[in-house]
Amino acid sequence: MDFSARLKLAAAAAAAFVAAMPAAHAAAGDPGAGARKITMCRGCHGIPGYRTAFPEVYSVPRLGGQHAAYIVKALEEYKAGNRSHPSMRAVAAGLTEKDMADIAAYYAGEAPKTAAR
Ligand code: HEC
Repeated sequence: MDFSARLKLAAAAAAAFVAAMPAAHAAAGDPGAGARKITMCRGCHGIPGYRTAFPEVYSVPRLGGQHAAYIVKALEEYKAGNRSHPSMRAVAAGLTEKDMADIAAYYAGEAPKTAAR
């Protein structure tokens, strides 16, 4: 590959990188992508009665139907350590901003369960 071809390739890669940046910071998440990222959350946030037995018995908040902005904020606070819960801090630490937005969009669009009615 000659120099100008390399330069073009590098320019294309840089352009693609820049183009991807705003998406990563977009406030609006993609619920479809979110649906694929919540498999693990279901383990706790999807159990009947919303309780979990690990590491101790505690109730787990329902996420479906909550506002996307609230969910993102909660996750950011866990990640930053402003909210402390051992399980959720560990979970949130592994999420990117895009993950949080996608997950929030998914949960915000999910109807709250009506079993309690
Ligand atoms: C090991 C169990 C567990 C897993 C896995 C888990 N959570 Fe949680 N989550 C909890 C518990 C317990 C709380 C309540 C913690 C507290 O009191 O601060 C919580 C709280 C939250 C809250 C705050 C809700 C509110 O009403 O304030 C959000 C948002 C949340 N979790 C999102 C998620 C997402 C998204 C995932 C998956 C990426 C996830 N959680 C995975 C147990 C879990």
